[in-house]
Amino acid sequence: MAKLNFGGTEENVVTREEFPLSKAQQVLQKEVVAVIGYGVQGPGQALNQKDNGINVIVGQRRHSKSWDKAVKDGFVPGETLFDIEDALERGTIICYLLSDAAQIQLWPTVKKHLTPGKALYFSHGFGITYNDQTGIVPPPDVDVFLVAPKGSGTSLRRMFLQGRGLNSSYAIFQDATGRALERVSAMGIAIGSGYLFETNFKKEVYSDLTGERGTLMGAIQGIFAAQYEVLREKGHSPSEAFNETVEELTQSLMPLVAENGMDWMYANCSTTAQRGALDWWKKFRDATAPVFKELYESVAAGKEAQKSIESNSKPDYRAGLEEELKELRDSELWQAGKTVRSLRPENAEPILPASGAASFEKPTQKIKFSSPLYRD
Ligand SMILES: NC(=O)c1ccc[n+]([C@@H]2O[C@H](COP(=O)([O-])OP(=O)(O)OC[C@H]3O[C@@H](n4cnc5c(N)ncnc54)[C@H](OP(=O)(O)O)[C@@H]3O)[C@@H](O)[C@H]2O)c1
Repeated sequence: MAKLNFGGTEENVVTREEFPLSKAQQVLQKEVVAVIGYGVQGPGQALNQKDNGINVIVGQRRHSKSWDKAVKDGFVPGETLFDIEDALERGTIICYLLSDAAQIQLWPTVKKHLTPGKALYFSHGFGITYNDQTGIVPPPDVDVFLVAPKGSGTSLRRMFLQGRGLNSSYAIFQDATGRALERVSAMGIAIGSGYLFETNFKKEVYSDLTGERGTLMGAIQGIFAAQYEVLREKGHSPSEAFNETVEELTQSLMPLVAENGMDWMYANCSTTAQRGALDWWKKFRDATAPVFKELYESVAAGKEAQKSIESNSKPDYRAGLEEELKELRDSELWQAGKTVRSLRPENAEPILPASGAASFEKPTQKIKFSSPLYRD
């Protein structure tokens, strides 16, 4: 296990150098990995493992698009694709990749098949951490661990096919066999991660729920909306407000931040942008910190889990949800965004003359917009 320094704190990390794919294959050679659920994570994890030479089967309910997708992806009914209960019986490592709500519903069936020595694998700490609400309490004689990819199942597969892979966190909740660490490490490498960061179930789910409600989705939409609305109230056009709120961030800044960090961005922007950003970021931090604390406390008290479980079990939830999503979709901000996106140079079609007689060639060189934010 490597110890790596993260900004002054040492953390345990499983690396592909010390735990290569050949070792993962060896650890898993006598296992049958049963991927239960073929939704978003299921396909990514099952296909990557299959391509990595792991003995993987899929358990999925029939007569559904997910079953058809598994067949289309090369899983063969009766050989590598089964009803959920059949797969549970055959599997020695059970990857529980149903939606979090369905995991609660199917738990009694899963539990029946968790015979001594098997392993129960999650990609989220939700079911175990909030077991007072989910009822997911595994028997003591099975290993229980998680590998949570830091991205969607679609990215997991796409990045694997590009030869890059996607890193994950891992945690062990229960080590009944004494082999939980090698089993979880092997699984993480087999699904295509290069590095596995150590955590525990509670921390994984607390940080995940905070992150998606916070900067990854909830907070960022809130900040976008606030800035956009102020710009509109002050008389700016929708395109201008959208460009200065979202487009420049996603198209230009975030790829650079992903590559080099925000510190680099601050050091390499125009002096005007630099002065302003340095003057204002702490004010935004201080204004939002109390909301983040409130959010974390709600997550830690189990209130967010409760809301999620209760809403997903309401029969009319889907209809109400569609209304909420429609409100966002129809908002001026995202409608303006739709037009702005269509005008990105790479999406622009050449404009034909009204007669249509002459043909135009698409310019080979992309139009370059210069932004006052950067020094070239
Ligand atoms: N989404 C992500 O990118 C992501 C990222 C990291 C971790 N995770 C975690 O990975 C796990 C799986 O998430 P996911 O997003 O892949 O789930 P998902 O797409 O919502 O899972 C859907 C799967 O659950 C099945 N299912 C739903 N209700 C069912 C029921 N009542 N009975 C039987 N099967 C049912 C679906 O089958 P049908 O198609 O037949 O309905 C499908 O196979 C979760 O713990 C999640 O937190 C997800």
